[in-house]
Amino acid sequence: MNKKPLILGIETSCDETAVSLITENEQGIPIVLSNIISSQVDVHKEFGGVVPELAARSHIEKIDWIVQKAIDDSGRKIEEIDAIASTAGPGLIVCLSIGLSFGKAFASTLNKPFIAVNHLEGHALSPKLNSELNYPYLVLLISGGHSQFLSVNDLGKYTRLGTTIDDALGEAFDKTAKLLGIEFPGGPQIEVLAKKGDPNKYELPKPIFNKGGCNLSFAGLKTAILKIAKNIKTDQEKFDLAASFQKTVTEILYKKTKIAFSEFEKQNNPKEKIFVVAGGVAANQSIRDMLINLCNEKSYRSIFPPIELCGDNAAMIAMVGLEKFKLNQFDNLDHPAKPRWPLDEKAAFLKGAGVKF
Ligand code: KG4
Ligand code: ZN
Repeated sequence: MNKKPLILGIETSCDETAVSLITENEQGIPIVLSNIISSQVDVHKEFGGVVPELAARSHIEKIDWIVQKAIDDSGRKIEEIDAIASTAGPGLIVCLSIGLSFGKAFASTLNKPFIAVNHLEGHALSPKLNSELNYPYLVLLISGGHSQFLSVNDLGKYTRLGTTIDDALGEAFDKTAKLLGIEFPGGPQIEVLAKKGDPNKYELPKPIFNKGGCNLSFAGLKTAILKIAKNIKTDQEKFDLAASFQKTVTEILYKKTKIAFSEFEKQNNPKEKIFVVAGGVAANQSIRDMLINLCNEKSYRSIFPPIELCGDNAAMIAMVGLEKFKLNQFDNLDHPAKPRWPLDEKAAFLKGAGVKF
C-alpha cells in the first residue's frame, strides 16, 4: 500500500485564521483529518467591518497554536506531512502575508514542497471534499468578498461566466443590516428579521437585471435601502425592508443563475449537470430553497457543501494542495502574495463605475 499524501493547508486571506490536514483513501476520496477555523468577528464588530491591520495582528497571534492544534487533532505527526499549501491570494495583502510566510518557512524547515493556492480555487474545489463529482461543474460563490459564477472545467481550468461589478452579495447583506442598526456581520440576522416582514412592501432596484449576462450588481440596492431606512419608524417597517431586500436579491439570483446555466451548458455540453453553491450566503434558507427549486426545474444536481466548508476554511486550501501535489505542481519560496488574482485570467476586469453592458 502506497502512503497517501498528507497535506497541511493554511488560510489567512481575510478574517479567518484556519489550518487543516487532509489526506485521501485508497479510492482517492479526500479525508479531512482536522479543520480548525478561528473567526475574528469579535475583533471587528465595533468597527462594522474587517479592519486589515487588526486582522493581520490577530493572524500573527494565533497562527502558531492553530497549526499545532490542527496537527494534534489530525492524529498524525509533523514528520508525516508531505507538503504545505498556503493561500497566496486574492485577499488582504497584510493578512495573506502571514499564512504565506508561515507556510513557506514551515515547508522550508520540514524540507517539503510548498504550494501557493488561489483562495477562489479553494472555494471552487471545496465540494470535492465531501461529494463525488467529476468535471465540469458550475459553481456559484456568494460570500462577503466574492460573488461569481465559475465553470470548473478541470484542475486549473476555470471560466468565469459572471461576477459582481461592485459589492459582493454578503457585503450587500451586511451593509443592509448595518443600515437597519444590526451589528456586523449582520447578514444572518437579515434572514431572521425577513421572516417577520412583508417581502412586497418595498420595491427595490435590480441593477443590470435585463443586461450584462450573468454578471451581478448590488450597490444600487444599498443606496435605495439607505433612503428608505432613514424614514423607518417601527420594527415592522424594519422587518418589511429586510424581507423586501431578501426577496429582491433572491429574484436577481434566480434570473442570473438561469442565464449561467445556459452559458455553462453551451460551453461544456456536460453529461451530468452539477451546480455547487458555496460561500457564507449559501446558508440563507430562502436563497437555498429558490436555487434547489431551480435545479429541479432544470435537471441539475445541486450541491451545498456543509457550512464549515462553505465559508472560508483551510480544508479547501489543502484540497487544492492535494490535487497539485499529485501532479507535482509545486511553487518556489519567492511566490508573492497576490491581493488580486483572478482564476480566469482571460476574463475582463469588471469593477467600478466605468463598466458598461
Ligand atoms: O464565506 P464567508 O463565511 O466569509 C467570507 O466572506 O470570506 O461569508 C460571510 C458572508 C457575510 O457577509 C455574512 O453576512 C454572509 O456571508 N452570510 C449570510 C448568511 N450567513 C452568512 N448572508 C445571508 N444570509 C445568511 N444566512
Ligand atoms: Zn472566501
